[in-house]
Amino acid sequence: MGSLMSEFERYTVTAALPYANGPVHIGHLAGVYIPADIYVRYLRQRGKDVIYVCGSDEHGVPITIKARQENVSPQVIVDRYHAMIKQSFEAFGISFDIYSRTTSPVHYQTASDFFLTLYRKNEFIEKETEQYYDEEAQQFLADRYITGTCPHCGNERAYGDQCEKCGTSLNATDLINPRSVLSGKTPVLRKTSHWYLPLDKHEPWLRQWILEDHKEWKTNVYGQCKSWLDLGLQPRAVSRDLDWGIPVPLENAKGKVLYVWFDAPIGYISATKELTPHWEKYWKEPKTRLVHFIGKDNIVFHCIVFPAMLKAHGEYILPDNVPANEFLNLEGDKISTSRNWAVWLHEYLQDFPGKEDVLRYVLTANAPETKDNDFTWKDFQTRNNSELVAILGNFVNRAMVLTHKYYGGVVPEVTHIGEYETEIQQQLETLKSCIEDNIENFRFRDALKEYMNIARLGNKYLADTEPWALIKTQPERVKTILNYSLQLAANLAILGEPFLPFTCKKLSQMLQLPASLCWDNAGEVNILSTGHRLGKSELLFEKIEDAVIEKQLEKLHQQKQQSESNGPTAAPQKPAVSYDDFSRMDIRVGTITHAEKVPKTKKLLKLTIDTGIDQRTVVSGIAEYFDPEKIIGQQVCILANLEPREIKGIISHGMILMAEDKDGRLEFVAPVTTVAPGSQVK
Ligand code: MF3
Ligand code: ZN
Repeated sequence: MGSLMSEFERYTVTAALPYANGPVHIGHLAGVYIPADIYVRYLRQRGKDVIYVCGSDEHGVPITIKARQENVSPQVIVDRYHAMIKQSFEAFGISFDIYSRTTSPVHYQTASDFFLTLYRKNEFIEKETEQYYDEEAQQFLADRYITGTCPHCGNERAYGDQCEKCGTSLNATDLINPRSVLSGKTPVLRKTSHWYLPLDKHEPWLRQWILEDHKEWKTNVYGQCKSWLDLGLQPRAVSRDLDWGIPVPLENAKGKVLYVWFDAPIGYISATKELTPHWEKYWKEPKTRLVHFIGKDNIVFHCIVFPAMLKAHGEYILPDNVPANEFLNLEGDKISTSRNWAVWLHEYLQDFPGKEDVLRYVLTANAPETKDNDFTWKDFQTRNNSELVAILGNFVNRAMVLTHKYYGGVVPEVTHIGEYETEIQQQLETLKSCIEDNIENFRFRDALKEYMNIARLGNKYLADTEPWALIKTQPERVKTILNYSLQLAANLAILGEPFLPFTCKKLSQMLQLPASLCWDNAGEVNILSTGHRLGKSELLFEKIEDAVIEKQLEKLHQQKQQSESNGPTAAPQKPAVSYDDFSRMDIRVGTITHAEKVPKTKKLLKLTIDTGIDQRTVVSGIAEYFDPEKIIGQQVCILANLEPREIKGIISHGMILMAEDKDGRLEFVAPVTTVAPGSQVK
């Protein structure tokens, strides 16, 4: 059982702050913002004191990487995406009380103060360590500036702060085979000093608080926390050597900023400060229920690191629950910004105007609550056509149209309550309390299913009683049937608001429901009084045709192909060289005359090249991509005057030029048509 609602006087609901380094997609919506929105809308309807806070996460390396790629300042990037993200959320009816941003002055102040409080309470340790440094870019490589192989799961594209595959939080020095994102080079270690939050010191109370006091947390959340705690907690640095972020508010901290995962969660507090002068009661009173909605890659930060920060500070409450969702896939493949494999919200809004609720519905019905789930356009179409149109829309439409036809749009009286009607009343009550129980325990899929069962109940009632046939033989009975049907429709308008806010608003207008109605009025069959006049009947949903779905699928694949061919992930330009530097390089065309694998190596081929001057030996790391027999006769470009190097006991005289894409695939650089060996490349 979840915590009893009555224990709490108010609710502070947060949704993970999305990084402002790109637009938001369906994965964001399904994982975090829709479930939180359902929860909050429900609480509001129940008259609870609740705030829903969010904002853009505007620091962190992904943003500076994007800025570098576009050759603009990070501020330009976050301004662009903050506006875009905010707008998308609004359009989908995500009802934040505030959507702030972590570059706001209030946040800078709040985060700096928070750091200082911990600093003064001696809650940090200051440590000098060796960290990776890119000599070419002359920069320390924090977090996502470094990639390598995850020591836990072997994922070759883990980042310096986290492996997205297994969710483990990492230190850059844990990575096997580290590489700089800036130059692609292997970085060197350099000394630097930082402030650390000693999580090890917090471990005992964290263990008790999570593993004993919060056994009700979702299994995925509880399990991840447990395995983290069982591995043993380590001190975590809360500062970085970067030029984008909130400066560490100390004298001796030039060039150091707060780690993004230190400042971002404090953003929840800053946003609340911006929202209301009474912010403290939402963060400091034990009778407030703090709930963090997040995706699974955020679990450790919200369940371990941020609580440790809050506890160390001393004035704040801790989260009572952290409902994290798993990931949503798209057409069987992981959603990926870099591969452009995503359904972007701003594009959906353009392609499907007025169908915001359809996406809300599909993403809730198919939410990745307990395991990763798949969004497919086919399923989107089916859920629209056979659920929203055929069940919900159809029921409401029949009740409305028949009432207009038989009674001029006026709610008829109940003439006789039979067994069926008693049954409906009972079922409605049960369904309502199932919806409540499910929402309160963060099972939004089930809640939605029970909601749709109300419409199913209505459809069955009409199909079983056939008022369109009875109207000739038992007109009095039809009055009761339509009265009950309209009562169900009114219940649908109230109870569906958390899931389908736009539809329910429209339905309320059609039924001309008084605005004062709320959750507590539902579950009853007396919402509409006899004689109440209905509004005009309109269709709530419309069918989506195959062609529309095919177009989306096509677009998705095209998008991906485009990003593969001219992906924005090209490495940034290297520092300038002089013309002289260039002309000292002797690059010429040669022909491969002989090739064999270097024994006991995976990557190396020993090549003989006809350079026009000589036949020479070159060792090249291309064996994984090219079969020695198949490249005889291949023309190549060779840097001929590179100083000779010994590789595995063989002297290599020069280097073959290869084109390497972002995935490490290699291709020869060669003249388009055959030229004489020795031709110079200038
Ligand atoms: N920006 C992070 C992400 O998208 C989430 C930050 S949540 C907060 O993964 F707690 F730090 F705000
Ligand atoms: Zn991993």
